[in-house]
Amino acid sequence: MAGDECELLSIAVKCAERGKGLAKMLMEHCHRELAGLGAKNFFLEVKESNTAAISLYKKLGYEKIFERKGYYADGENALVMNKS
Ligand SMILES: CC(C)(COP(=O)(O)OP(=O)(O)OC[C@H]1O[C@@H](n2cnc3c(N)ncnc32)[C@H](O)[C@@H]1OP(=O)(O)O)[C@@H](O)C(=O)NCCC(=O)NCCS
Repeated sequence: MAGDECELLSIAVKCAERGKGLAKMLMEHCHRELAGLGAKNFFLEVKESNTAAISLYKKLGYEKIFERKGYYADGENALVMNKS
């Protein structure tokens, strides 16, 4: 968190525990806690092929605001997503 902006750097759920709502619960918890500290804007980057993560972020209210071409080492694009 810097000022009223936050960036999600990394999130992962153990394979055997996926699909149980853990990532959604964890992110909602972070949003609430950080909003309580004054956060107004949340940002993250995600590989455009990562449909599970993109679906999670959209469900939480994130929208794509920008695309970084060839951002990852394998040449894949990154989507920059924001939630206010
Ligand atoms: C992305 C990740 C964190 C999701 O964790 P999770 O605990 O399984 O997610 P949840 O159970 O909280 O799912 C919440 C929502 O995300 C979406 N989602 C999660 N897994 C999905 C999948 N395999 N396919 C499509 N949508 C998916 C769904 O919209 C889901 O809501 P629903 O269950 O009502 O359909 C997990 O798949 C993971 O650790 N992936 C590897 C690491 C990674 O890619 N991290 C993100 C890097 S940017």
